[in-house]
Amino acid sequence: MFLYQIELQNFKNYESLKLDFCEGIQGIVGENGSGKTNLLDAIYYLVLSKSALNPIDQQNIRHGQDYFTIKGNFERKDFQREEVFCGLPKGQKKILKLNQKEYDKISEHIGKFMVVMIAPQDQSLIAEGSEMRRRFLDNLLCQLEGEYLDNLLQYNRFLSQRNAYLKQAYEQNRWDKDLLVSYDWGIHTFGEKIHVRRKAFTQDFQPIFQRHYQYLSQAKEATSITYKSDFDKGDFKDLLLQAHEKDRILQRTSVGIHRDDLAFRIGEYPLKKFGSQGQQKSFLVALKLAQFEIMQQHKGEKPILLLDDIFDKLDEKRIQKLIEMVSSNTFGQIFLTDARPERTQKILKMMPIQHRIITLEAGKIKSIQEVN
Ligand SMILES: Nc1ncnc2c1ncn2[C@@H]1O[C@H](COP(=O)(O)OP(=O)(O)OP(=O)(O)O)[C@@H](O)[C@H]1O
Ligand SMILES: [Mg+2]
Repeated sequence: MFLYQIELQNFKNYESLKLDFCEGIQGIVGENGSGKTNLLDAIYYLVLSKSALNPIDQQNIRHGQDYFTIKGNFERKDFQREEVFCGLPKGQKKILKLNQKEYDKISEHIGKFMVVMIAPQDQSLIAEGSEMRRRFLDNLLCQLEGEYLDNLLQYNRFLSQRNAYLKQAYEQNRWDKDLLVSYDWGIHTFGEKIHVRRKAFTQDFQPIFQRHYQYLSQAKEATSITYKSDFDKGDFKDLLLQAHEKDRILQRTSVGIHRDDLAFRIGEYPLKKFGSQGQQKSFLVALKLAQFEIMQQHKGEKPILLLDDIFDKLDEKRIQKLIEMVSSNTFGQIFLTDARPERTQKILKMMPIQHRIITLEAGKIKSIQEVN
């Protein structure tokens, strides 16, 4: 699957832009703030109907304007062409269309196209709390399995109802245990499905991840990813029941898969505290490359790969490994940004793959250089 054309109106720093892409690698270069990351974000929007950077959709409308639109034309491996449209009027709901037909529910779009992004903000997967790591798992599993997304939506619905009830019961000093038990039902029914899937997935994911990490680091360091969940500690129903008293006081649900985490380790130690910057970056890159591989296995098509500032912080050897991997036949269409055009030019010259260098300047195309 590849994206052969994109059109933007009032999206972030782009007033109006129309660009054609090749099936291979696009090197997107330009000064800081020229719009390189924003262009990748527009592609991310087409696939996942949200920004990879700013979760508040409205803030992605160009300052002072009252809407944005993103239109993308894709070609699948059977040459079938599909058009995705994402539009957002100011103060209103997002509109998402596939081949001119609007979706009833945006979640129906998830999984139809695939993208993997490697970006500087991935650092938050290591540095920040468990929410980021859950988001990584969910983002991946939702793109793979519609059922997972449905279960997650249901779980979150029960969770917010349960939390709202706990708050209300506390404020009104009234307590209906049976009602709470009915919310527990949703939490453990859908929570169990998600738990089973996350657990099995992490086990399948681990060896693929390790292979990528070892390739990048030339097998220097041992690494591991471990799934951690409240629901590992016993029967789901009992755990929820045991938490009733505590939840009443806290006014929120204190056990469940909304607290799951992934522990990242280098050797036996937490990556966050003991990994060097380059090791952390290699870890993140390997995580995303493993994501790519799993998605391709499941769907039989190659996701679009968005590489934002990927060469930063990696040493020459690791960059070399990455380039070897990128120039092999492993990947499909790639978008690669770099604020240093000479570096990208030099790297792409070595690659025996069709590529194009697009130079941006303040939200406009400055030049396009085609290399076959
Ligand atoms: N809603 C918006 N309206 C107008 N401009 C915006 C909006 N959101 C972001 N921008 C602008 O987009 C620019 C940043 O673009 P982007 O992050 O794509 O740059 P970049 O080329 O990736 O730069 P770098 O090399 O520093 O990563 C900034 O100047 C920012 O002010
Ligand atoms: Mg950028």
